[in-house]
Amino acid sequence: MSEIKEQHPVIIGITGASGIELARTTIEMILSLEFTVVMTISSAGRVVWKEEIDESYGETIERWAESGTFTTNSIGDLGAKIASGTYPTLGMAVVPCSMATVAAISNGLSDNLLRRAADVTLKEKRPLVIVPRETPLNAIHLKNLTDLAIAGATILPPQPAFYLRQKTIAEVVDFIASRTVHALGLTDQLPSQMRYGNGPKN
Ligand SMILES: Cc1cc2nc3c(=O)[nH]c(=O)nc-3n(C[C@H](O)[C@H](O)[C@H](O)COP(=O)(O)O)c2cc1C
Repeated sequence: MSEIKEQHPVIIGITGASGIELARTTIEMILSLEFTVVMTISSAGRVVWKEEIDESYGETIERWAESGTFTTNSIGDLGAKIASGTYPTLGMAVVPCSMATVAAISNGLSDNLLRRAADVTLKEKRPLVIVPRETPLNAIHLKNLTDLAIAGATILPPQPAFYLRQKTIAEVVDFIASRTVHALGLTDQLPSQMRYGNGPKN
C-alpha cells in the first residue's frame, strides 16, 4: 500500500438518517481500494443501524477491523486525531447525513466528533461529501444544504440514475457509493456500467 493511503485516512461519518447501507457499501468500497478509513457514528446512527441492517454493528466493525486499515472513533471523543486540522486526511463523507447534522455543520456547530471533523475538513479545504437523506425537503434543509455547497461541500443526494435502469436497491446503493467514492477523489472514473450510455438498453 502506498504511504499516502496508509498515512492519510478517509473519514466516514454515519448519522441517524435512513440509508445505513449506503455507509456500509461506501466503507467496503474504500477498503477494497486499499485506503485507510476512520469511522465515527452518532448514537442516532446506531439506532437506525439496528432498524435497517441484519448484520449487527459490532460484527460489522470486527469484520472491517480485520483489514488492518479500519478504525472507529467514539462520537464523543473530541480529542481524536480527526478533530484537528493538523492531522492529514484525504477528506470526509457524511453518509447518510441527517438534517440535524446538515444544520449543525452548516452553522459551524462542532458539538460532537463527526461534526467537528466535517468542520475541519471544510476549513482545511479537503473534499467533504454530504449524502443528505430526507424527503420532502423544507426551506430550512435547502438553505442549510446551500450554505454547505457554498462552503465547498459536495451535496450528493442518494438518488438513482434512472437511465441506468437499475433493478435492485443493491444496484442503486452501489451507484451512490461509487459516486461518493469518486467525489472524494479516490477513483479516476466511475465503473463503466455506471456511466451513461453503458446501461442494459444499449
Ligand atoms: C429509523 C429512523 C430513521 C430516521 N431517518 C431520518 C432521515 O432519513 N433523515 C433525517 O434527517 N432524520 C432521520 N431520523 C431522525 C434523526 O435520527 C434525528 O434527527 C437525530 O437527532 C439525528 O442525529 P445525528 O445527526 O446526530 O445522527 C431518523 C430516525 C430514526 C429512528
